[in-house]
Amino acid sequence: MGARITGFGAALPERIVTNADFEQYLDTSDEWIASRTGIRERRFGGTTTSLAVEAGRNAIASAGLAPADIDFVVLSTTTPDQTVPATSAEVTYQLGTSGAGMDINAACAGYVYALVTARGLIEMGFHRILVIGADTLSKITDQNDRSTAVLFADGAGAVVLEASDDDTFLGWDLGVDGSARPILYCDHGGYMYMEGQEVFKRAVRAMLDSAQRALKQAGVSGDDVALLVPHQANLRIIQAANDRLGIPMTRTAIVLDKTGNTSSGSIPLALADAAAAGRLSRGDLVLFTGFGAGMTWASALVRWELS
Ligand code: ACO
Repeated sequence: MGARITGFGAALPERIVTNADFEQYLDTSDEWIASRTGIRERRFGGTTTSLAVEAGRNAIASAGLAPADIDFVVLSTTTPDQTVPATSAEVTYQLGTSGAGMDINAACAGYVYALVTARGLIEMGFHRILVIGADTLSKITDQNDRSTAVLFADGAGAVVLEASDDDTFLGWDLGVDGSARPILYCDHGGYMYMEGQEVFKRAVRAMLDSAQRALKQAGVSGDDVALLVPHQANLRIIQAANDRLGIPMTRTAIVLDKTGNTSSGSIPLALADAAAAGRLSRGDLVLFTGFGAGMTWASALVRWELS
């Protein structure tokens, strides 16, 4: 018994916010933002539910399925539309999926946590799982704080994971270090607080160590990876991890220049962008790796079986 990805989808709000838009009212510049982060524009708008539903619908269609074929929706989000119930409840209702649904929150590592959890659920007898990552970080970011406003944004992505005879999940690694909670957090009703440099240092180390553990479990190296799909927070973090993993930028999926940091949305958005652009072939090894508040980290090495 195993699992394979059979479809993918993405959703971004329509409103584009460029670095020049921030220049209008904040003491910042396109040059500062682009050179420190790689971000040039991002999208603001929608709700976590609306973005999750659109990405989920696109993924189900791409898998050639109907919503009722889905027997579990796993939604990774740090920005649920309500505290209770879980946002996945509304998402399952609007999509018309069957069976179960739940939210997962492991901050920006949450999407890979959700993927690995879904792989486990297939072991328990579920057949077709919609794994969505959706966040609306613009709502919990102080748009007058230049140190965070330029980074965080809204978006969603999704894949369909189906039970299969052979397993395409070759290695994975999940972890959390709760002692680092004070460097990146958002209280109820508050805004994102971040110690940028500390997060930066720890993110490179956490992502690298986690990716290496997943590669080791699979018995492969960075050379064997056809596409690295990292959490899209900062281009410099990705480059630092790439160098040490021996995976060049030409084999890395990047969307952050157009999306900013969309937390749970970032990894499936980058995957959908690369797959839609024809950058993946059947048999390719794809390495997902992310880090987030907590601090959490997560990696998964998966064989791509779509052509
Ligand atoms: N425009 C202009 N200047 C700015 C801006 C801005 N938008 N933001 C901060 N600055 C200033 C600072 O105030 C500081 O000024 P000072 O020297 O007068 O005090 C100066 O720029 C340098 O600030 P640093 O924080 O040292 O800049 P750094 O090079 O570290 O870049 C950044 C900051 C981009 C935030 C970087 O540290 C980073 O990307 N860190 C990781 C962030 C991250 O990955 N977060 C997501 C985690 S995932 C999740 O769970 C949400």
